[in-house]
Amino acid sequence: MSDDESRRGFAGSAPEADGPRPVPQLAAIAPYVMGKPPRRDEPQGAKLSSNENPFGPSPLAIAAAVGALTSVNRYPDDQGALRARIAAFHGVEPANVIPGAGSDEIIHLVCAVYLEPGRRLILGSPPYGIHRVAGQLSGAELVRVPLVDWTHDLSSMAAEARPGDVIAVTNPHNPTGTAVRPDDLRALLAAVPRECVVLVDEAYHEFMDDDVRVSAIGMLDLHPGLIVSRTFSKVYGLAGLRAGYGIGNPATLEPLDRVRTPANVNSVAMAAAMAALDDTAHVGRTVTLTVEGRRRLEDACARLGLDHVRSQTNFVLVADRDGWPEALGRDGISVRPGANLGVPGWHRVTIGTPAEMDRLIAVLDLLFV
Ligand SMILES: Cc1ncc(COP(=O)(O)O)c(C=O)c1O
Repeated sequence: MSDDESRRGFAGSAPEADGPRPVPQLAAIAPYVMGKPPRRDEPQGAKLSSNENPFGPSPLAIAAAVGALTSVNRYPDDQGALRARIAAFHGVEPANVIPGAGSDEIIHLVCAVYLEPGRRLILGSPPYGIHRVAGQLSGAELVRVPLVDWTHDLSSMAAEARPGDVIAVTNPHNPTGTAVRPDDLRALLAAVPRECVVLVDEAYHEFMDDDVRVSAIGMLDLHPGLIVSRTFSKVYGLAGLRAGYGIGNPATLEPLDRVRTPANVNSVAMAAAMAALDDTAHVGRTVTLTVEGRRRLEDACARLGLDHVRSQTNFVLVADRDGWPEALGRDGISVRPGANLGVPGWHRVTIGTPAEMDRLIAVLDLLFV
């Protein structure tokens, strides 16, 4: 299984003979395919295709965002308050924080600053797609290390690492939902050269089971090049506002800060993000309902004999059989084809509200029982 399969049917870009010429590495990069909304004519439609928070943002975040709207004639501030709030939340210093317009921007900044032709990006295969695209755009060589049991093979990734490489670990991983063992991550950080950057993408951290929910933020002392990315798009329900951040050692983050667009996180997103961190009740409710929905979907798959990958996230990867994704589609429930994610023959199902999970499981029951 190769994530090249996600590019099947992509002919490459063909610039006009007399037009501008993109950098040559762009030819291998296919346009991104977003998760589709449900059919328009389906009033009860459920969008379970983009790993969003179906419970919405915190009311505190909405109030803060509305309050910030009155001053959008001004540029956002220097993001000092946001850095300080995130730093306090994690018990680190503001200099350990870099804000991003979504954590995808942090990924692009890391690859822009630390990769170039001749350097290498080591990543799991299939990878989270934005890691691949940002690495390809940099002109670096991609070293694809196949997942083992759907999980990053950290010892093989560490064995590949040379000075100047970037190593990307998504924990838990998208599209598979699997987590690495904290000790394996510590071993990788101890093993790889100090001149590497290790990017640990923790977009789904809050949804993990207690026994594996260990953040790499507590491992900053183990490697000078460790950068941990986090997002406000998942558990905080602010995907549409675009806010995320990286946590790392100041000397490793400072070059990113130099090229970051100064006003990358807009003032509305900043206000909402800071308020969202305060609403621990909303986060707790989202996690409880999501983990419960995930358990229900995994139990249903087991009962119906549908292959699936045990997940630590707000989605589950389920094997195609007898047209269940199409049956859901007819019922107005959209899920994500694995062919776009490097896992053809599978679909990725985002956990919805309890009512959405009722409907989804009812469709599966009708098809298989
Ligand atoms: C692993 C992973 N990292 C990052 C992101 C993007 O997060 P953001 O919305 O903060 O850019 C996603 C979104 O699906 C993701 O799955």
